[in-house]
Amino acid sequence: MAESMKGLKRSHRCTEVSNANLGETVTVMGWVQKRRNLGSLIFVDLRDRSGILQIVFDEKDVKAEGFAKAETIRSEFVLAVVGTVEKREGAVNENLKTGDIEIRAKELRILSEALTPPFPIEDGTPTRDEIRLKYRYLDLRKPRLQKNLKMRSDVTTLVRSFMAKEGFIEIETPMLTKSTPEGARDYLVPSRVHPGNFYALPQSPQIFKQLLMCSGFDRYLQITKCFRDEDLRADRQPEFTQIDMELSFVDIDDVMDVNERLLKTLWKDILGVDIKTPFPRMTWQEAMDRFGSDKPDTRFGMELKDVSDIVKDCGFGVFTGALENGGSVRAINANGQGSMPRKKIDALVDFAKGYGAKGLAYIAINEDGSFKSSFAKFMTDDEMNKIVDRLEGKPGDLLLFAADKNKIVYDVLGALRLEIAKNLGILDKNTYNFLWITEFPLLEYSEEEQRYVAMHHPFTMPMEEDIELLDTNPGAARAQAYDIVLNGTELGGGSIRIHQADIQEKMFDVIGLSKEVANERFGFLLTAFKYGVPPHAGLAYGLDRLVMHMVQEDNIRDVIAFPKVKDASCLMSEAPNVVDDKQLEELCIKTVVNEED
Ligand code: AMO
Ligand code: AMP
Repeated sequence: MAESMKGLKRSHRCTEVSNANLGETVTVMGWVQKRRNLGSLIFVDLRDRSGILQIVFDEKDVKAEGFAKAETIRSEFVLAVVGTVEKREGAVNENLKTGDIEIRAKELRILSEALTPPFPIEDGTPTRDEIRLKYRYLDLRKPRLQKNLKMRSDVTTLVRSFMAKEGFIEIETPMLTKSTPEGARDYLVPSRVHPGNFYALPQSPQIFKQLLMCSGFDRYLQITKCFRDEDLRADRQPEFTQIDMELSFVDIDDVMDVNERLLKTLWKDILGVDIKTPFPRMTWQEAMDRFGSDKPDTRFGMELKDVSDIVKDCGFGVFTGALENGGSVRAINANGQGSMPRKKIDALVDFAKGYGAKGLAYIAINEDGSFKSSFAKFMTDDEMNKIVDRLEGKPGDLLLFAADKNKIVYDVLGALRLEIAKNLGILDKNTYNFLWITEFPLLEYSEEEQRYVAMHHPFTMPMEEDIELLDTNPGAARAQAYDIVLNGTELGGGSIRIHQADIQEKMFDVIGLSKEVANERFGFLLTAFKYGVPPHAGLAYGLDRLVMHMVQEDNIRDVIAFPKVKDASCLMSEAPNVVDDKQLEELCIKTVVNEED
């Protein structure tokens, strides 16, 4: 039977009780982690968000009726205990903050009984993800998730105070809005009042924050939910949180400076880690050429090397064929992996195929300097030696080659170097390599839509010297866009915005948006710009990803209280669900579900 806490007031959280309270009477409340019954003594480990405290019920001290009650206690019951703080009689528990004290109970109230939980409330116990997520409220009782969410709260608190000191004003923008141009699918919300019309949930506050610059707010901040209907991965959720900012009258250096100081403060104040600023900057082209990725993990080498010039006249059709098709031949050196067994190499080939490779050619350099290779027979000694030199190959090394269109070569080798580093266990989680990637391509050609699309979004400013290219060779134009990358993850991204009507018009034109469509979608922004718009720029972080790195988790779900799974459903609430016909009728909506889908 649940008792009331009337007349009791919690005096301490469990681990706030310490040696300093010896002899005092305290009142603690929490959940039962464990109960041990030793006849006339009952020991209970009581847990709250601060940690664990040992309670002793001694037949001598607790009233008979109280002791009988203590005998009924089971895991996860919620208790209130009044008792005196004493030195532990038994062995000191070095693992607990309160390991040398205990509470000798005088009074016990069972505030709530509990069913046996479907899994133990402890870190590291093997439980299937589906069960953990179905009972998320229990999973969240575990110390690790409690710590993660506490750190998430510390991060947002510190971001707010830091940014306020820097002159940023926090402003909320609408959730029920028009489609925003971030390129993923929208989540739509039907309007009852305007039958057949839909709001879109924001993919980001992009347009609104630019309007706030037009309104003169100068420095805007918002920590806000964004919604994107895209395929989920380990670092993606359909609803996630951005730390979103926009600044007026600034250049790239100003944006980077305030963000470097913000990240430095977060790492110092929350993790106690000094990170070096300013962060290195690398152009997109250099990142692709050296690491095969626009978010390179620079904690290790294994950089890509272009060998196209060496193999252009060789006898290996796979290489020359790729070059004739406008592609390239590049390779990485997996140092010291030359004796990798055939089976493991085959596994790497399969891995590479997953990224679009048609195959993976290799040279293993034997200890005596001779080669074992899938293509040596087609090459001259001179060509082989030049390749090995370019890759700084030494006896014992394994060189891996991809020949294809550039995009595939980058993707394959970029992914391969990460995979090999992971397999070798050389990625140190306590090394934090921050890096700015700059000069992204402005546009990407979409084969599907047969047109250029904006790589970041259509309000991103081209590099001054590339503006002319919009007329002649748009695909070659670079953007004044930047991403902040940490250890191979894109933490955030932003750009200098277009604030000149003629450049904006040209941009819409290049991506195939007619004046009418541009006006229909973004007319309010374009009109606003006609009333005096300051030059402006901004950036948004994925808060979830940021926290994920700070707490060193591999999955974004572990820093979100109630996350969704791969098919975007919530296993606990069972959202999304079918709604009443009456609700649909009010919204003038009929649904047609294809049973095969
Ligand atoms: P962008 O689209 O790059 O930029 O998003 C900014 C950051 O948000 C995070 N992010 C996500 N996190 C979790 N799940 C997702 N599905 C997801 N999608 C994005 C990433 C990313 O770097 N309006 C622009 C910013 C600007 O130009 O100021 C924008 O939204 O960490
Ligand atoms: P093949 O001539 O297809 O038997 O391939 C000979 C070797 O080249 C094998 O080791 C393949 O894995 C490798 N290979 C095939 N296509 C490519 C490619 N596009 N890039 C790199 N290596 C390849």
